[in-house]
Amino acid sequence: MKIYLIGFMGSGKSSVGKNLATSLGISFFDTDSYIEEYTEKAIPAIFADEGEEGFRHYESNALEQLSGIEAVVATGGGIIEKTRNKDIMDEDGIIVYLHTNFETISQRLQEDKNRPLWNQDLNKRKALYERRLPMYKQFSHYIVETDDKEVEDIIYEIEDVMKFS
Ligand code: S3P
Repeated sequence: MKIYLIGFMGSGKSSVGKNLATSLGISFFDTDSYIEEYTEKAIPAIFADEGEEGFRHYESNALEQLSGIEAVVATGGGIIEKTRNKDIMDEDGIIVYLHTNFETISQRLQEDKNRPLWNQDLNKRKALYERRLPMYKQFSHYIVETDDKEVEDIIYEIEDVMKFS
């Protein structure tokens, strides 16, 4: 069993993913942490040294390396920027989109400095969110609304949709 969690930054992919993996008794991976361990660099440093394109390259490699492993994988918010990533995930498991409103995300992240693409002005953040919304929908097999929900409720919903897959 393989479950990929996709969604915008701050949509709760990592916390939902860790708890879901525990509940299912399988491993948990986070592509961002995987890349940081592999490169021995923090994400802002990768963006600064190698640009977004460099980071996206590591991201696709991480997906490839994790394919075939039974796990829950929390992906970075930009995983939808490469169609190749859809092919890798599609062939390997179930893709669940955690949808969260922009206002909720803004409250959660506030002035977070560890996410280079959040660390820009409000109009650009909002434009990125709007541009990506249809992409998450297009990538995913299931959409789970996360606003005003506890992690436990979100996990319950994911486990429920998985019964039908
Ligand atoms: C990114 C999201 C981040 C991280 C990187 C780029 C994006 O992950 O991969 O900063 O393009 O949205 P989270 O979604 O876990 O914050």
